[in-house]
Amino acid sequence: MADATTRQWRLASRPTGEPTAENFDLVTVERPDPGHDEVLVRTLYLSVDPYMRGRMSAAESYADPWAVGDPMAAGVVGEVIESNHDGFEAGDVVTGNLLWAEHAVADGDELRQVDPELAPISTALGVLGMTGVTAYFGMTDVVEPVPGDTVVVSGAAGAVGSVTGQVASLAGARVVGVAGSERKCDWLTDDLGFDAAVNYREADDLGAALADACPDGVDGYFDNVGGPVTDAVFSLLNVRASVAVCGQISQYNATEQPTGPRKLGQVLQKRATVEGFLVGDYEDRWGEALTRLGAFIEAGDLSYRESVVDGFENAPEAFLGLFDGENIGKQLVAVADRE
Ligand SMILES: NC(=O)c1ccc[n+]([C@@H]2O[C@H](COP(=O)([O-])OP(=O)(O)OC[C@H]3O[C@@H](n4cnc5c(N)ncnc54)[C@H](OP(=O)(O)O)[C@@H]3O)[C@@H](O)[C@H]2O)c1
Repeated sequence: MADATTRQWRLASRPTGEPTAENFDLVTVERPDPGHDEVLVRTLYLSVDPYMRGRMSAAESYADPWAVGDPMAAGVVGEVIESNHDGFEAGDVVTGNLLWAEHAVADGDELRQVDPELAPISTALGVLGMTGVTAYFGMTDVVEPVPGDTVVVSGAAGAVGSVTGQVASLAGARVVGVAGSERKCDWLTDDLGFDAAVNYREADDLGAALADACPDGVDGYFDNVGGPVTDAVFSLLNVRASVAVCGQISQYNATEQPTGPRKLGQVLQKRATVEGFLVGDYEDRWGEALTRLGAFIEAGDLSYRESVVDGFENAPEAFLGLFDGENIGKQLVAVADRE
């Protein structure tokens, strides 16, 4: 591979508030060679995810901050170019957490084979990948709906929310989605089988709109967004309601910590359970979720959608779009075709 080059996106500076294109730097570097037990991967699809906003900040969180000047990391589906690992050979399609790069070297033990015959390979970053597994376990292990429950999902037309709402429907719940456009709400009710959807950006009175959509109150809430949407849902919690706190995207660009309390009185009065959820805690059960999600898709019970931005150079734009609600379903970047 002598003299071969590749491109990487690096963190140019830490954002204050909403990130901008200036926070990213596109650099050309020498293409790395795989060492012992390593694999050289050519990126086909790159995932952009809201949690990456946290890694752009210096604050410690469950994912370590990136250093300024360092390449950023992402979920990748790619093609093996060269392998020094027994489990992989050139041409294999794999997925793993690699760099925001056109080519990257990975420890083979950190990669997973993707079967292109099973489903489109991009799904390994979405419905049959991290966001699908998040949706599945967050709903089945934390919210745990039973038939007849009313379950609300915020961020409902996104990668996690669109799947988790359908998982709740399959468990027999009445499902209400909260999303940021009429187009998204129509997709939820017309195509995904949500029982109702509320456009939080357009509602004159969000609390009243949600109360209309949830005449029997809320037994389960899967929270992807936090902020005013969550305040409105908390006002409707029923006794012994279960809340899974999966994401708080409305707060990721905040320059000051929000002050509380935020409807904790409701948690007390309704003896509700509010539990934080992290997909990383389910590493050992990943296969279980993928088997169930795959079976749901095969049976025609689970639909998914992907929003794809073309071109490696457009990866920051795809990431920034998450904060403006540009995506429906899973946001991906198409980087290259398979050879
Ligand atoms: N805990 C875990 O293990 C885990 C794993 C994966 C993801 N997550 C979290 O789950 C959430 C969803 O992730 P995802 O990958 O599925 O992203 P996503 O929902 O596909 O994309 C983000 C969506 O958030 C919505 N949004 C942006 N700003 C908002 C605001 N101020 N208020 C309300 N909604 C806003 C936008 O949709 P609208 O048009 O509806 O505004 C946007 O499309 C994120 O908070 C993420 O951090 C957590």
